[in-house]
Amino acid sequence: MNRSDFPMLDQDLIYFDNGATTFKPNTVISSINEYYTKYSANAHRGDYDISYKVDLKYEDVRDKVKDFINAKEKEEIIFTSGTTMSLNLVASAFFEKYLESGDEVLITKTEHASNVLPWFNLANKLGIKISYIDLDSDYHVTIDNVKKAITNKTKVISLAYITNVIGDKRPIKEITKIAHENNIFVVVDAAQAIAHTKIDVQDLDIDFLAFSAHKMYGPTGVGVLYGKKELLDEANPYMLGGGMNESFDNENEVLLKSLPYKFEAGTQNIAGVIGLGAAIDYINNIGIENISVYESKLRDYLINKLEKISFIDIINYEADGAIVSFNVDKIFSQDVAYYLNKYNVCVRAGNHCAKLVKNVTGVTNSVRISLALYNTEEEIDEVVNLLSDYEKIRNEMI
Ligand code: ALA
Repeated sequence: MNRSDFPMLDQDLIYFDNGATTFKPNTVISSINEYYTKYSANAHRGDYDISYKVDLKYEDVRDKVKDFINAKEKEEIIFTSGTTMSLNLVASAFFEKYLESGDEVLITKTEHASNVLPWFNLANKLGIKISYIDLDSDYHVTIDNVKKAITNKTKVISLAYITNVIGDKRPIKEITKIAHENNIFVVVDAAQAIAHTKIDVQDLDIDFLAFSAHKMYGPTGVGVLYGKKELLDEANPYMLGGGMNESFDNENEVLLKSLPYKFEAGTQNIAGVIGLGAAIDYINNIGIENISVYESKLRDYLINKLEKISFIDIINYEADGAIVSFNVDKIFSQDVAYYLNKYNVCVRAGNHCAKLVKNVTGVTNSVRISLALYNTEEEIDEVVNLLSDYEKIRNEMI
């Protein structure tokens, strides 16, 4: 699908590490290049033409993000540096003020560090408790287990939409319904979902959503925090400085700007935001549903092939996303990655920043193949062929 749009694919490379970051299409690269060569001014500060142009482009991307996730208002879209900053921002800006000692936050053991450590931090600061929703035998979240985990102290459920090792997609709509019936907020880490499945924050009734541009064919260093307006209005800014205040005179007279600007202190990643806009256009032109269907076929194709290899243990047969994690019997995952790299195949190996996963799967490290719209069955055939010869892997892994 559209391989010629991606200059990185002009070389002899099989790139299967799209969960870490995706390649960028020419339209994204040229949008950034155009900003730096044609109208490279700051946003919301200048009284001259190229600065007005930046303002329009920057705010136009906010509208594109709003439409992409079907937010109600553009003020609900905050630009950040990525998912990690977005999750830290929501924990510090909103929940640090809202939570009290004894309150509980529900997560799972298959979350990425970015959806664990900000909560651990609040646990240390506020005396809140982190509890874990039990997973079923496929490491999936079930509604029954969510119901069982909720207590009268539960105030937040924070989950990845699709997880980065297991690749399971959570039933977010059902979870938000139960959560809201119990006055619980729902935070969704969409880093591994945003480029792979349709997300409609109003339909799913999500309170806060975080994602990164670089995992959706956009540039690194830029991301989004979506929050319901009434909640963001209540939140304190996380960073203070230019661009986020209306006025100040002495320390007691700081007047903050309204949403979304109170959360965007300092010069923002303007080129990144413009690139994100081009990435959204790119995905929209193909259609997120088409991407989803194509990637599901690729994943099933890969799993069907890998499961025929007797010395490969697949961890997540029941993946919903474009992620397949596995191990080669008695060979360390990073050695497998090293072997594949000799054939210009890029995969990720290790714990994938999800260090609690081992507590449910019993597997500390794994090889992860994460697919994107430009991957093909031919690439899968090549990699499966490389993985089919145990002696070759053993001989060439170092
Ligand atoms: N969070 C990214 C991954 O799972 C980096 O690889």
